[in-house]
Amino acid sequence: MKIKKCAQSLQTESAFKVLAHAQQLERQGKEIIHLEIGQPDFHTPKHISDAAIKAIREGKTGYGPASGLPKLREAIASESGTRRGITFDINNVVVSPGGKPIIFYTIQSLAGKGDEVIFPDPGFPMYASLIAHSGATPIPLPLNEEKAFSFNKDEFRSRVSERTRLVIINSPHNPTGGIIKPNDLEVIAEEAHRHDFFVLSDEIYKDFIYENSFVSIASLPEMKERTVILDGFSKSYSMTGWRLGYAIVPSFLMEPFELYNVNIASCACTFNQYGALAALQNSQNCVQSMVSEFRVRRDYLVDTLNEINGIHCLKPSGAFYVFPNIKETKKSSSQLASDILENAGVAVLGGSSFGKEGEGYLRLSYATSLDNLKIACERLKNHLE
Ligand SMILES: Cc1ncc(COP(=O)(O)O)c(C=O)c1O
Repeated sequence: MKIKKCAQSLQTESAFKVLAHAQQLERQGKEIIHLEIGQPDFHTPKHISDAAIKAIREGKTGYGPASGLPKLREAIASESGTRRGITFDINNVVVSPGGKPIIFYTIQSLAGKGDEVIFPDPGFPMYASLIAHSGATPIPLPLNEEKAFSFNKDEFRSRVSERTRLVIINSPHNPTGGIIKPNDLEVIAEEAHRHDFFVLSDEIYKDFIYENSFVSIASLPEMKERTVILDGFSKSYSMTGWRLGYAIVPSFLMEPFELYNVNIASCACTFNQYGALAALQNSQNCVQSMVSEFRVRRDYLVDTLNEINGIHCLKPSGAFYVFPNIKETKKSSSQLASDILENAGVAVLGGSSFGKEGEGYLRLSYATSLDNLKIACERLKNHLE
């Protein structure tokens, strides 16, 4: 039996592959420090878990509306609007089982054979995978270390054509921690109007910003109508396993997004949505204290990595990843990542698993304790020097 071409074009996320390998080494008795996986190492705040448990006890365990509980959609419209300085309507909000499905829904709804989709390279591997799956042509946009992992405006303009249907952006960015500056967002917006394309703005790390405040491309003039915002609860509230995300979409995309939910999952988990509601309706101090802790870890990690021969590392402005340059080691990033795991007991990702432009870099997640980061840096130093 032959698997269809589009299913064959699906790629995996290397973080899950490396995690499985690291766990196999652990079963053999090796002690591994995990810097590969992108999930906060904090418990979900208690008031959120309590609200979901209460919902289960009250029997809120059946199917819910396909696009999400109205109360939650209302809270999302209001909170997301306040956060971005935009007014959103509940009728533009779809709750989904995680943020990932939104990437699929957007690409499937807007692009197919003969269309082009521009996406960041390096970038979240699911973008290239799902663009290829849709039959559209993936057009990678290089992000440059010299530009603090933003893009060169001319390089962007040269990639836009009359076939461009969608541009995917992700700021703060996985894997580099980079941020797209407002004047670069303006360039994308200008081109979107000129060439009539849409933007998928993956804002899942919007709360993890260390220097500036967050700006959404949807807040630029007339961009709300051209932007799908992807956001969710996984990162901001340490709820990766709850599988709860959402999209804020132009009105014409409500129907297909709701239908994708109906066809694929019926709805997001009902009682978890009560947890999400508690997350939005209560104090955001839990988010702020997580971000403060991440800032301390980022500063430690960047300073310490820069003391190791063969590595230099920019201080990222967002997310919880660093993307050190390892070109001086003269090893491929996948080879170096595998050597570091096998010989130094530190699980990291090779930059090339995020695209061609990621070669020569590693991705380290600092979603682990400062103590673990200290051990990891010591081991990296011994291994590399
Ligand atoms: C850039 C980016 N977008 C989207 C997601 C999806 O998050 P989730 O499906 O857990 O909401 C992730 C998760 O790692 C991510 O890094």
